[in-house]
Parts: sequence; structure tokens; C-alpha cells
Amino acid sequence: MDALPFSQACENNKAPILEVLSRVFADRNAVLEVASGTGQHATWFAGHLPHLSWQPTELPEHLPVLMPRCEHYAGTNLRPPLVLDVSQRPWPITVPTAIFSANSLHIMPFSSVEDFFAELGDSAPEGTLLAIYGPFNYNGAYTSESNSRFDQWLAQQSPYSAIRDFEAVNALAESAGFTLQEDNAMPANNRLVVWRS
Ligand SMILES: C[S@@+](CC[C@H](N)C(=O)[O-])C[C@H]1O[C@@H](n2cnc3c(N)ncnc32)[C@H](O)[C@@H]1O
Repeated sequence: MDALPFSQACENNKAPILEVLSRVFADRNAVLEVASGTGQHATWFAGHLPHLSWQPTELPEHLPVLMPRCEHYAGTNLRPPLVLDVSQRPWPITVPTAIFSANSLHIMPFSSVEDFFAELGDSAPEGTLLAIYGPFNYNGAYTSESNSRFDQWLAQQSPYSAIRDFEAVNALAESAGFTLQEDNAMPANNRLVVWRS
């Protein structure tokens, strides 16, 4: 068997993220994960949060990366991965009352970040919890030297990728009818931000 697609960052951050999600999603029963990557988060969180039905999604061209690990999942609460490009609206899926995405808003173009929140404003049920993990800038400044270097690296990968300003993302969330609930400090200068609609 070929080695499954692997991200060291996911291995490092999955336990601290689980600690927050297990509390925040305690009363939910289904989660939509946007930009599931290798599926390490989907399989780990589904395995540790058996009360949740976990729906992984990815861009069509990235589905072959996501699929193999999901196919190896032994439990019954991981749904087969679906194609979801947040910029293709309206989304072809039903949005449940819990949404999670990690390390995606700084990868996709900002216009797609706008689409992401606009679509949630249109289709997320009232009372939806939205949990976003990743780096953010605050008051126009990096929170660390390592985030500054990471942003330079991102710019070399794609002119559209960049660490987002928390205030800009929060403004999109508010426009979509979401209110900030929590902004959790996480290891490696990341955040786990939770909004509620
Ligand atoms: C850095 S990876 C993060 C993957 C995973 N969530 C993780 O934490 O390892 C960013 C992901 O965003 C996805 N992505 C980029 N643009 C997207 C879009 N418009 N809609 C959905 N996913 C997108 C990419 O395919 C990629 O898998």
C-alpha cells in the first residue's frame, strides 16, 4: 500500500484543535469541513467525536489527496468526501449547524474568502457555529516573526495567498450574520476563532 498523504502540521495541531472542538461542538450532530486537505483532521476528529457525523470536502483536483485516508477510516461517522469549491455558489450541499476549516482562508484568494462568508450568510441555519483555525494578523501587524516569514513564503507560492487580517474576516462574518464567540490562542501562533449565526 502506498503511504497516505501526510501533513506534519496536521499532526502537530490536531490535539489542541480537538480540545476546543470537543467543547464547542458538544451539542452538534453534524459538521461540514471545508478544505479537508489530507483527511488527517477529518479522520482524527471523527474518531474522537463519535457524536458527530463529519463531512469532509475539497476542491475537485484535491479529492484524490483526501480520498485515500478517508477510505481507511474504520468508523461509521465519516461521510464520503464531497467536492466543494467555496467560490462556486450556490454550494451543492446542505450546510449543517457546525462548520470547521483549518489553514484555508490564507490559501484561497480573498475573493473566495468573501464568497465563503457570503454563502454561509445565505445558507447556514440560524444558530450555526463556525470554527476557523489558522494564522491571523491583528491591527495590521503580524503576531510573530514566524508568521511574518510564513507570509513571505505564501507570497512566493501564490500572489493570492496571504495571512488575513482578523478584522477584515470578522467584518465578513458580521455581514453574513455571524457574531464572534471565541478567539482561542493556539500553538505556533495560530488562532481558533468561533462565530455563531
Ligand atoms: C494548506 S491546505 C489545508 C488543508 C487542511 N485543512 C489542513 O489543515 O491541513 C489549504 C486547502 O485549501 C483548499 N482550497 C483552496 N481554495 C479552495 C476553495 N476555493 N474552496 C475550497 N477549498 C479550497 C486547498 O485545496 C487545500 O487543500
